[in-house]
Amino acid sequence: MPYVIIISLLLLSYTTQSQATLYELDAIHHPVIGSDGMVASQHPVATQVGMDILERGGNAVDAAVAVGFALAVVLPRAGNLGGGGFMLVYDSDTKSTKAINYRESAPAAATRDMYLDDKGVVDSDLFNQSYLSIGVPGTVAGLCHALEQYGTMNLKDVIKPAIKLAKKGFSVTYDLELVLKKYENRLKVSAESKGTFYKQDNYFNHGDILRQPKLAWSLKQIAKKGKKAFYQGAITDRIVSDVAKHGGILSHSDFSNYKVSVTEPVMGSYRGYEIASMPPPSSGGVHLIQMLNILEGYDVGSFGQNSAAAIHLMAESMRLAYADRSKHMGDPKFWDVPVEGLLSKDYANELRSQIKLDTVNISSTILPGQPQDYESEETTHFSVVDKWGNAVSNTYTLNFSFGTGLIAEGTGILLNNEMGDFAAKPGASDAYGLIGGVANAVESHKQPLSSMTPTIVLRDNKPVLITGTPGGSRIITTVLQIISNIIDHNMNIAEATHAPRIHHQWYPDKLYYEHGLNVDTRNVLRSRGHIMEQRAAMGSTQSILIRDGLLLGASDPRRPDGATMGY
Ligand code: GLY
Repeated sequence: MPYVIIISLLLLSYTTQSQATLYELDAIHHPVIGSDGMVASQHPVATQVGMDILERGGNAVDAAVAVGFALAVVLPRAGNLGGGGFMLVYDSDTKSTKAINYRESAPAAATRDMYLDDKGVVDSDLFNQSYLSIGVPGTVAGLCHALEQYGTMNLKDVIKPAIKLAKKGFSVTYDLELVLKKYENRLKVSAESKGTFYKQDNYFNHGDILRQPKLAWSLKQIAKKGKKAFYQGAITDRIVSDVAKHGGILSHSDFSNYKVSVTEPVMGSYRGYEIASMPPPSSGGVHLIQMLNILEGYDVGSFGQNSAAAIHLMAESMRLAYADRSKHMGDPKFWDVPVEGLLSKDYANELRSQIKLDTVNISSTILPGQPQDYESEETTHFSVVDKWGNAVSNTYTLNFSFGTGLIAEGTGILLNNEMGDFAAKPGASDAYGLIGGVANAVESHKQPLSSMTPTIVLRDNKPVLITGTPGGSRIITTVLQIISNIIDHNMNIAEATHAPRIHHQWYPDKLYYEHGLNVDTRNVLRSRGHIMEQRAAMGSTQSILIRDGLLLGASDPRRPDGATMGY
């Protein structure tokens, strides 16, 4: 065959393949498309900050760190300097993934019963909304560490856009206008927060410019002096003195002793893909892989996406995993978490044998706690891929929206309420209705258990999906459904993101579903014994799928302002 024909055929097959990916004519949801770099985050301005870094030649970590600092300004409900989180970094040179743990830790003076009143009852305000709810923040240390270890740019350059946004201001979106109104009571407790997020006698409306000069000062300190400014410097002084003035226990040594840890991710496999996710003190990675291991024993794809059969199996897997979560999960420096056992395929076989195809198991051996009907917009995720194939999957948080809602005087920094992720009293539930055991009891220097699940799915050791989400207890099950939609149901990343979600967490014994799950399916599930309850939208994923040499991204439409950009 003449060469020209062979080349034409090859070109034709290449064009057909990439056009099939670009223009899936049968799809009703389409991803953002790029090939050299992509950023997906909860705010367009932060996404643009990341894109600018990539286009200037920065790598995925440079861009991710810039996005992390920018979100602290433009997404104050979850972006942060005063919180903590987890980052997975895939390094294309070494073809390895590392897990950076910059979760908050309990202050040295924290004690197991510090949130119980005289009668031994959990004081919910003290636990979740007080100066005692604040964990030692890890975000600044985490972002600085990632940049030093994996970045190519200097801190000043990646922090510069955030300083400018804080100093000169940015345009308030409809979403920010609404959340500032919604959380007014919490944010007006502190004079600093009130002065930052409210005008003298009025609200910030969409289109208004919000300036945060004190936050700009803190960011400048960090740009000049690095993480020392936050952990052993002027910012530390201001936070410690403000917290002490209000009865909190954060000390200078809590800050100076704070350490980021870098470990291997937890690894699993699912139908030929490798799953890299966050190890304890996040429960996310372990239970994500545990649920995937259970599901791998069924031909989930053949049941059809969001069919009653597929949802039943997912819900029963979720029930089993969340029951294990309540008993086994805590900070591994303080509690022997049986990670290997929970991740083993044999254990998944054992659990699968407990699942009945036509009826539910009942979650009834432990008394439920006092789950509150709480749906928070807390936490945020961003994903970044660069032209060299490096990838970052990062989830960080203040816990509730705006954390405690308290800003430390003179810093512009919102303080987290991450202590609320401990089990204040073993057997009692947290704000998400999750029951925690002694494994997650409060202890000095311990990190509270998390559900954050930044994840990278790989094939032959190369990333194919970078994903993660906020959503409290629903984080792990949301990531599970994104992965199953891609691998089992062959959806594109936009379809996989948009499809209605479900959630089960063992207790309360309910199968939650989103608006959009059809009534016939719900009726079949009800007939199998599921207690069905509609809930508000679950999660806000920021995902990038890598397929046929293209970057295909999607920001979740469930919350306003999410933005994916690629080039
Ligand atoms: N604060 C939510 C989480 O860490 O899971």
